[in-house]
Amino acid sequence: MCGIVGYFGNREAAPLLVQGLSKLEYRGYDSAGVAIIENGDIKVTKCKGRLKNLENKLEENPIHGLVGIGHTRWATHGQPSDVNSHPHSNKTETISVVHNGIIENYLELREWLTSEGYEFKSQTDTEVIPNLVDYFYEGDLLKAVIKATEKMEGSYAIGVIAKNEPDKLVAVRKDSPLIVGLGKEESFVASDIPAVLAETRDVYLLNDKEFVILTKEGVKIVDANETEIKKDIYKVTWDADAAEKGGFEHFMLKEIHEQPKAVKDTMASRIAVGQPIKLDDINITKEQIQKLNKVYIVACGTAYYAGVVGKYAIEKLARIPVEVDIASEFKYRDPIIDENSLMIIVSQSGETADTLSALRLAKEKGARVIAVTNVVGSTASREADDILYTLAGPEIAVASTKAYLTQLTAMYIIALFFAEQKGTVSTEKLEEIKTEMLNLPDKVETALSCKEEVKALAEATKNEKDMFFLGRGVDYAVALEGALKLKEISYIHAEAYAAGELKHGPIALIEDGTVVIALGTQEELFDKMVSNVQEVVSRGAKVYAVAQMGHEEVKKTADSVVYVPKVMDLLAPIVAVIPLQLFSYYMAIAKGCDVDKPRNLAKSVTVE
Ligand code: M6R
Repeated sequence: MCGIVGYFGNREAAPLLVQGLSKLEYRGYDSAGVAIIENGDIKVTKCKGRLKNLENKLEENPIHGLVGIGHTRWATHGQPSDVNSHPHSNKTETISVVHNGIIENYLELREWLTSEGYEFKSQTDTEVIPNLVDYFYEGDLLKAVIKATEKMEGSYAIGVIAKNEPDKLVAVRKDSPLIVGLGKEESFVASDIPAVLAETRDVYLLNDKEFVILTKEGVKIVDANETEIKKDIYKVTWDADAAEKGGFEHFMLKEIHEQPKAVKDTMASRIAVGQPIKLDDINITKEQIQKLNKVYIVACGTAYYAGVVGKYAIEKLARIPVEVDIASEFKYRDPIIDENSLMIIVSQSGETADTLSALRLAKEKGARVIAVTNVVGSTASREADDILYTLAGPEIAVASTKAYLTQLTAMYIIALFFAEQKGTVSTEKLEEIKTEMLNLPDKVETALSCKEEVKALAEATKNEKDMFFLGRGVDYAVALEGALKLKEISYIHAEAYAAGELKHGPIALIEDGTVVIALGTQEELFDKMVSNVQEVVSRGAKVYAVAQMGHEEVKKTADSVVYVPKVMDLLAPIVAVIPLQLFSYYMAIAKGCDVDKPRNLAKSVTVE
């Protein structure tokens, strides 16, 4: 996730910007840069790689100035490179901008600005912003920024400086975080509190569309009509370590709470009601889709379980047979692949060795490969024919949560895209699914409110040695992911079963007090699931259920029920997994485990 910092005051800006950026490193980044006003001109230094590279460049060619903006970039549009790094400026270098977020209509804006004579150097969405500000600039930076934001769709936190107003820094946010740090005769803007903590503990927390102007007179906040907004100072009492985690105790919990936004970002500019699915980096043609005889979804761990949901979605909507494969097994079973097969690899990191070797095998055999990955410029994104980026932002906790939810979102997007191209689903149904998908971020937010209930449940079951996770249909796929989460961070043995399969063997293990987590979010399979639950209850199991709101009768069979918002069956995994993620998190806490860095595990597995 990008990080932005801005400084206005009477000290040298460069070291303060670099210091601030170093405190945002935890967000993940691939390049860094600063723009500082030196003797009335904007001077920019930026480069790919670690912050150290930027520091070295600044040491060789120092920039002296008291006003500046800085940025760490996590690539979303365009590879990590010097030219794609921020700050971005207009051609005449009179306006410079740092940006965190995604400008969804940037292609449209770029086209329009090009027709107005503007030129673009980078592949980024951000570069439209300094040009838009330039377009509207008539001697008042604030007014130009307000007008530019009226044209911008999507999410943004931006910091802007202008050559013609060297004693001013303007910033604004919409759906991306931005705070103001208040020092003595100096002030800061930043994506997050840790960036300013070494200098001040007094901050303003900005809301959407609040414009902040830093000048010698101090900090002024106004709305889009330039009416002043008075804000209370927020005194930060956390230490720097807690601040990096946004006040959460662990990155995993922070990332669980980032899921509504991650899902929203992954859908943004791709799904809109009444419009076809838009996928910029997918070039497979309608004819190629019509000819597909088989789709292979290949991945590891959590990404594999997202693929299991993908199978249900693609088969149901696009009517193409799908096989889901564990990447480490794929190439050793001599799979039947030809030029009419498609492989979809799913990988948060885009660097998992087994997944990459499956990708290479598919390409060798002439199949097309779509990479669903979270990392722009990763090996998977470079080697695949088509890419669908999940826009989860960097995931730091080893246990995957927000990446999983965005992988599920990507699976639904691909299924809808294929269905649209093949005409396998009526327009009304497609629109119904899109509408329901666009409501998912709010539903995920609601699902997160089960926190306290789930925490109590984890506390009550923390001494268990084994647990079963049961589900039918896509609930089975969620059960698999729930069991993996519990194993990896709380070290409790957990088995996931398709509920109907239980009586073919594993039911022998159910005895008095065995804990069973039962997922019952599938309306179509609900009665069958209730029967399966009764089978284990009558053998003494303690059953904790996850059900859709409204199913009060579940309380009669299960020992307790966590309710999640009602969603159509196919999309239910997006909400159903939330209590399971929280359960594994609170279980790990109750057992005193190292939540973010579980034993024996690495975030990215780059060996076979
Ligand atoms: O980076 P990838 O998505 O390819 O990683 C795949 C798995 O290693 C990963 O999902 C792993 O299972 C996670 N630790 C699960 O939380």
